[in-house]
Amino acid sequence: MATAVLGLQWGDEGKGKITHLLAKDASMVVRFNGGPNAGHTVIDRGVKFGTHLIPAGAFYPDTTSVLTSGMVIDLRILREEWDMVSEHLGWKPKLLIAENAHVIMSYHRDLEELEGSGKYFGTTRRGIAPTYRDKAAKVGIRVGDLLHPDIALQRLELRLDLLKRAWPESQEIQALSACTLLEDQLAVAEPLLSFVGDAAGAIAQAMAAEQTVMFEGAQGTLLDVDHGSYPFVTSSSTTFAGLGNSIGIPNPQVDHRLGVFKAYMTRVGAGPFPTCVSGELEERLRSIGGEFGVTTGRPRDCGWLDLVALRYAIQLNGCTELAITKLDVLSGFDEVKICRSYNLDGQSIMTFPLSAEVLERCEPEYETVPGWSEQISEIRDVSDLPEQVMALIQLIEEDVKVPIDIVSVGPEPEATMVKR
Ligand code: GDP
Ligand code: IMO
Ligand code: MG
Repeated sequence: MATAVLGLQWGDEGKGKITHLLAKDASMVVRFNGGPNAGHTVIDRGVKFGTHLIPAGAFYPDTTSVLTSGMVIDLRILREEWDMVSEHLGWKPKLLIAENAHVIMSYHRDLEELEGSGKYFGTTRRGIAPTYRDKAAKVGIRVGDLLHPDIALQRLELRLDLLKRAWPESQEIQALSACTLLEDQLAVAEPLLSFVGDAAGAIAQAMAAEQTVMFEGAQGTLLDVDHGSYPFVTSSSTTFAGLGNSIGIPNPQVDHRLGVFKAYMTRVGAGPFPTCVSGELEERLRSIGGEFGVTTGRPRDCGWLDLVALRYAIQLNGCTELAITKLDVLSGFDEVKICRSYNLDGQSIMTFPLSAEVLERCEPEYETVPGWSEQISEIRDVSDLPEQVMALIQLIEEDVKVPIDIVSVGPEPEATMVKR
């Protein structure tokens, strides 16, 4: 059985928590996109981790954690996480790193600063866009290259030659040496190199043998490079539509496509956000929800749940079921707002505009529903939830026409209920 856990908003929906919870029965957990721009919060045996690269399967002894070719990997960060999780568990998690995944080099991070793109787009400054750009421009370094240092050196020399010609005035770039960069990579990656191999083949085999395979999405649908609010997106395919190519399997048979969304919205970085709120309300959502980036610590912008965006995200992922997280954060609000449509230049629209400029002009049209005063974070059975919470869940289900099977009311794995 295969399950994909997919973010339906602008990231940080709680994918890490949900994947970690479901991964305990998995043979394989596969991260298929992005890099250390992701920050997934996992509470394992009472200890909180913010993981950036290592899949949630790393917390279980019989699970292989796979990093696929759709990813860009900063080997220093992966090594730190692998060491940290090993220390926590007392054993070393099993990894499989796709030989054709691309490596984030120090100059990729430098480029975001030199070009100013990090600041303009509000990126995580982890070198994500420059690494995907190098991949498409055929001047990237792949993890498998490190198994053949002579090949890696040749590729690095070519890349540095181009880079130095593009940045004659940058002392930082001019000082780069292919030999030193390679030595650094080999030193940090050394214990991980035995994990490098054919990820696509291993995933295909596991799926053919009907093992339990989980796919851990990173970022959210609205950050997808093709289908998100371009150009205020990340540089990878974040949706189920992109999963097949990222893992190297045509038409993967993933029966459960679980879309994860928060009971409200957040966004970090630049770009339009129709239901964004401000002032006291935003402060309240941010402080109760702990809405600060796991990767950068930046405060996240907050707003009401947007069903226009959610319907679009569900369609792009072909979601079969949904998980709603952070309902507990809305406790104590007299009323809760839900955006069902947008007003665009005087007309009501039900669909999510592709253009960031058009989305910027959209005004949310809200439905207001009664809130609830009770704290719900200790509730462990859906039937004990206040009727207003159940009414809200029902309203969302009827609108998006996909069942909400998982209800999360706290960051801990225990604070999760299965509704169906
Ligand atoms: P991810 O990137 O999708 O894995 O999400 P993040 O880890 O970046 O952000 C989600 C945050 O919400 C983390 O701090 C989680 O510990 C927390 N969280 C997840 N589910 C819930 C929930 O149901 N209630 C509350 N209060 N916090 C949650
Ligand atoms: P998880 O997996 C939230 C945002 C950045 C920026 C834009 C582009 O934790 O949900 P990038 O560094 O990718 O080039 O930045 O995308 N972004 C995220 N926002 N959660 C994430 O990941 C994100 N990964 C990237 O803030 O706006
Ligand atoms: Mg996150």
